Amino acid sequence: MGRGSKDKRDIYYRQAKEEGYRARSAFKLLQLDEEFDIFRNVERVVDLCAAPGSWSQVLSQKLRPTENDRVKIVAVDLQAMAPLPGVIQMQGDITKEATAQEIVQHFDGGYADLVVSDGAPDVTGLHDIDEYVQSQLILAALNISTHVLKRGGTFIAKIFRGRDVQLLYAQLETFFDVVTCSKPRSSRNSSIEAFVVCVGYNPPEGYTPHMSNPLLDHDYDKYENALVGVNRAIVPFLACGDLNCFDSDKTYPLADGAVLKAPTQTPISPPYAKAVRLKKEAAVGLGNVHVERATDSATENQ
Ligand SMILES: C[S@@+](CC[C@H](N)C(=O)[O-])C[C@H]1O[C@@H](n2cnc3c(N)ncnc32)[C@H](O)[C@@H]1O
Repeated sequence: MGRGSKDKRDIYYRQAKEEGYRARSAFKLLQLDEEFDIFRNVERVVDLCAAPGSWSQVLSQKLRPTENDRVKIVAVDLQAMAPLPGVIQMQGDITKEATAQEIVQHFDGGYADLVVSDGAPDVTGLHDIDEYVQSQLILAALNISTHVLKRGGTFIAKIFRGRDVQLLYAQLETFFDVVTCSKPRSSRNSSIEAFVVCVGYNPPEGYTPHMSNPLLDHDYDKYENALVGVNRAIVPFLACGDLNCFDSDKTYPLADGAVLKAPTQTPISPPYAKAVRLKKEAAVGLGNVHVERATDSATENQ
């Protein structure tokens, strides 16, 4: 299979298991770091939408190679997450004010050097809706950042490079000195996913963070998408990850003697669990129907 392969169990999936990461997403953060050196002088981090926790694993490995009390990593997700050393975990919805407040409290009035968000909604396949929900997650992440990020701090978030991405760039550029859109090699080409790397938190003069602050007006086409020329924010785009590293859209054979491993951390209560249960129950029900039909025809044949 070539670059167009739909094989989900790609090389990064396998490598994640080899290296003990809970998800292949770990390599996206590692490759963003290779390109942007995002962990330099970082001690306090918020990992938003963190489950199952591969980004938190990377953060923990990079920032506390030995136990370090100064390092604080706060991880949040809707889903429960198995514990990780040195990571404070919270279960909650980042678009809710109460969650944002709880995160802020963990910093005891202090500030974070870095906020990362790999949030993704359960994709419906309806692009407009998916993009809208994704933008809500980014805005929630940005809003939380305006409360906890120190001046000069870094914000990294997953985006979908869709129709309305210009508005997002413009919005981010009002809060950060430099905004770059980046696509790590481990992110599949077939996906519109990319990451904004926003360096140098520098909110507009007089900006007061509010928990319930609507950062965006959603009438995109009427306003921001109608902007032209210098009024339109065009941020640099950078593919990151060395050209020699694995291509996420290519399928690689297993290395000689390689042993297939189980996932490092199976999901605790995945959102698809109910669907799997219903499918199993339906299959059992269908099995009964087959048995009944078989019995009926056996009786007819007698
Ligand atoms: C791609 S996964 C994150 C993977 C994670 N970075 C890792 O490395 O393991 C996206 C996560 O976003 C979370 N999520 C989606 N909407 C959320 C919300 N409103 N609040 C908190 N988490 C959310 C999902 O529960 C899911 O675990």
